[in-house]
Amino acid sequence: MKRITLLTIVIALTSSPLHAVEPASVDKATAVAKAVDLMIRATRSMYTGKVVKKLKKDGKGAKQNSHKLKGFVPLPAQFVTHISEKVDAIQPKDAKGRFTVGLRSLWNLNPNQGLQDDFERAGWDSLVNQQNSWSGDLKAIPWRPYTQTETIDGKETLRYFSADVGSVAPCVTCHNAWEKRASIKKQRSADGIDSGKVFKMDELMGAVVINVTLD
Ligand code: HEC
Repeated sequence: MKRITLLTIVIALTSSPLHAVEPASVDKATAVAKAVDLMIRATRSMYTGKVVKKLKKDGKGAKQNSHKLKGFVPLPAQFVTHISEKVDAIQPKDAKGRFTVGLRSLWNLNPNQGLQDDFERAGWDSLVNQQNSWSGDLKAIPWRPYTQTETIDGKETLRYFSADVGSVAPCVTCHNAWEKRASIKKQRSADGIDSGKVFKMDELMGAVVINVTLD
């Protein structure tokens, strides 16, 4: 019985289109994904540190409905979404190494940013496992991104899913406050997820998801 199962897996793997993917192009796409990951985090961090912080000092700041408020700017996560929409819009559809980037979470506050497919759910499980199997200080977790190649719209694509943690206190305080809102509790129960999540510092809060087409 065991042998049949193993044989089935071997056939499934060798007959899969993934087998045709050149390791070199996977390496290149992974390097692109890493650079995009770093850049998006640096951009968000500088936006928070230089723009939002300054505006707060001046008596304004960042708010989700900033478009209706004089002197306020979008939240850092919304800023990332704006960048990701722009990145998507300005790249030719058939460009080599075309990439997309976005934020995800099981505890998403934006209804469009939940886990969207099997890859993202597997990525989330991988990150949760890394956290659960770590017995030391959460801050020291050597996070490994979850990656996979997959055919999307007929193109071999590298998919990359890396941990976004509550690295500074405001991440945790703000998200915990949102978790108490009736609208979010309703969203959690509709999604079949426990409501009342309370994040700790340095805990997994979400993920950066990146897709890069292999040339
Ligand atoms: C002032 C409140 C606030 C702070 C501070 C904040 N967030 Fe968020 N975060 C939000 C809101 C609101 C959204 C949803 C924004 C939208 O509408 O797209 C969000 C979205 C996200 C998402 C995407 C998934 C989702 O919930 O839609 C991630 C991941 C995330 N935040 C992580 C973080 C991390 C990590 C930090 C700290 C570095 C942080 N947040 C700081 C309020 C906050």
